[in-house]
Amino acid sequence: MNYLEALSRRYSVKKFNSEIIPQETLHNILESGKLSASSLGLQPYEILVVGSENMKQKLIPAFYNPSQISTCSHLIVIISKKIVDDNYINGYFRHISKVRETPLNTLDLFKNSINQHINQKTQDEIFNWAEKQSYIVLANLMYAAAIENIDTCPMEGFRQDLIEEILEINPETEKVTVTLALGYRSEEDHFQHMKKVRKPNEKLFKFI
Ligand SMILES: Cc1cc2nc3c(=O)[nH]c(=O)nc-3n(C[C@H](O)[C@H](O)[C@H](O)COP(=O)(O)O)c2cc1C
Repeated sequence: MNYLEALSRRYSVKKFNSEIIPQETLHNILESGKLSASSLGLQPYEILVVGSENMKQKLIPAFYNPSQISTCSHLIVIISKKIVDDNYINGYFRHISKVRETPLNTLDLFKNSINQHINQKTQDEIFNWAEKQSYIVLANLMYAAAIENIDTCPMEGFRQDLIEEILEINPETEKVTVTLALGYRSEEDHFQHMKKVRKPNEKLFKFI
């Protein structure tokens, strides 16, 4: 499918038909999340994939509108880091060194510049920066799903405390930023027939 066709077909599904996505398709969509760009390459997030019926059921009360969570195939939960410390950065550099088969000390210049950049931020700034990276993952997952003909609904409409309690998230160190329900649209979901509402080009784009 052409990418504009895929994006035009995509809409935020309110009700799925409860069919389960094949493992391989899910794997491909998740890879697009993994391949997302992130500032400094630090990937300050984790991606939780909820597939078990039991956990989906448990999560229903955490959503203001339960219709997506109760009918989707999978729910992806993007968790942003509140703390990016020396330990985290050291782990990142050990990983680069291993993947690229490069001695750790040859990366010192890059590591020092990252340390400097991160250390000058407050904890709030770090978290704000981490959340922005999470939305890039969200966009890539949605885009990949659309190309795979999988329907989605991005959702911020959840009870923060409850979702974090159910998923055993430590609110001191991380936060559920956004979720993405995946599955197949229900024929009963009349939102699929609605025209897209977007700003006209002259209001959205400025060519200078
Ligand atoms: C970050 C984000 C959070 C959203 N949260 C919700 C949500 O909690 N529930 C919902 O039904 N739709 C949610 N939406 C969907 C938007 O309402 C939708 O994208 C917008 O109205 C445009 O419609 P379309 O996606 O169908 O083209 C969210 C979208 C984004 C990008």
